Amino acid sequence: MSRLTFASAGESHGESVCAILTGMPAGLDIDFDAVADALARRQGGYGRGGRMKIERDAVRIEGGIRRGRTLGSPLLLRVPNKDHRIDTAPAVTKPRPGHADLAGMMKFHTRNAREVLERSSARETVVRVAAGAVAASLLGQFDITVAGFVVALGGVRATITSDDPAELIRLRDGSPFFCPDEEVTEAMKRMVDETRKAGDTLGGLYEVRAFNVPPGLGTNATWDGKLDTRLAGALMSIPAMKGVEIGLGIEASGLRGSEVHDPILKGDGRPRRSRNHAGGIEGGMTNGETVITRVAMKPISTLMRGLPSIDVETGEETTAAVERSDITAVPAASVVGEAMVALVLADALLEKTGGDSLDEVRRNLEGHLEAVNRLFENR
Ligand SMILES: Cc1cc2nc3c(=O)[nH]c(=O)nc-3n(C[C@H](O)[C@H](O)[C@H](O)COP(=O)(O)O)c2cc1C
Repeated sequence: MSRLTFASAGESHGESVCAILTGMPAGLDIDFDAVADALARRQGGYGRGGRMKIERDAVRIEGGIRRGRTLGSPLLLRVPNKDHRIDTAPAVTKPRPGHADLAGMMKFHTRNAREVLERSSARETVVRVAAGAVAASLLGQFDITVAGFVVALGGVRATITSDDPAELIRLRDGSPFFCPDEEVTEAMKRMVDETRKAGDTLGGLYEVRAFNVPPGLGTNATWDGKLDTRLAGALMSIPAMKGVEIGLGIEASGLRGSEVHDPILKGDGRPRRSRNHAGGIEGGMTNGETVITRVAMKPISTLMRGLPSIDVETGEETTAAVERSDITAVPAASVVGEAMVALVLADALLEKTGGDSLDEVRRNLEGHLEAVNRLFENR
């Protein structure tokens, strides 16, 4: 991120998880209800484990605001951990295949994976969600909506028919899987229940769409400034994400150009597109269409029935350690994905507009959009 910076600190069973977010303009009223709603959503979804029953996350914003409004200084976000027992939590010497345990033991030269997993745990994502909701408060000022939702769970695939943000969000919020297709709820439930009984776990797919994103965010000029690069990196940084697609994504590789690329048609003012296979990004820049990302999450690596492993203390073959764990966390991951996309888009917006205050951002964005519209005036 170039204009916004975001860093987190904190362990799964440490005192708290914190983040510092710099680059937010002054004068933004943070939507605290939306922040609380996003944190509650991250804790929900069918298939979660015991931890989520212990924590009721609430963020404290301890720097960068006055009376709920940003000052233009770094924001300090802190989410206390109720389950705070890092000093007494037991050693983990039987690394879980698929988790960070074994690779981390070798990296940090320790036989106790506790020293690794405390940071590798997805508990850290709580503060991404809080920071993402602050970023979404900024985007909301410009009627940009970011919505994450599940499209497949353990191979049960949903059909998404709407492209209306309000409807997608309404359907998503009514689903225990955060999936806007109620037809698949029962099949997903069955899949999770059977998998739980078998002591196994599931992955899936979610989408994050961003609506009403202005054209011209990101760049074609540098590899690391391209919006695709930034979205893919941000989404892949979420634990357990193993693939990111933009628009049609991998499916496009098997089709002809005429089937993939979105015709440009004369519009009323700006040109319009007859479809959106590009997922709103061409040449590393937004093209004014809905930004569509799709993310693949692998199955949770802590299995109640334990996968083959070794005990690093004794050298014996055994089954892996079992920490309290989710059967699946794809619904929660979609909330984290939504946060990461909001952070990347807020960053790209501020990069385009500059501005120390919200008013300045607004003025500069209006100037940019007027210049875009002038291109197509009287043509
Ligand atoms: C929201 C969320 C919840 C997760 N919950 C668990 C869990 O309960 N148990 C587990 O083993 N892994 C869980 N994970 C995945 C691990 O954190 C992840 O697989 C691990 O850190 C290794 O990183 P990698 O999968 O990116 O290689 C979760 C991930 C997310 C995004």
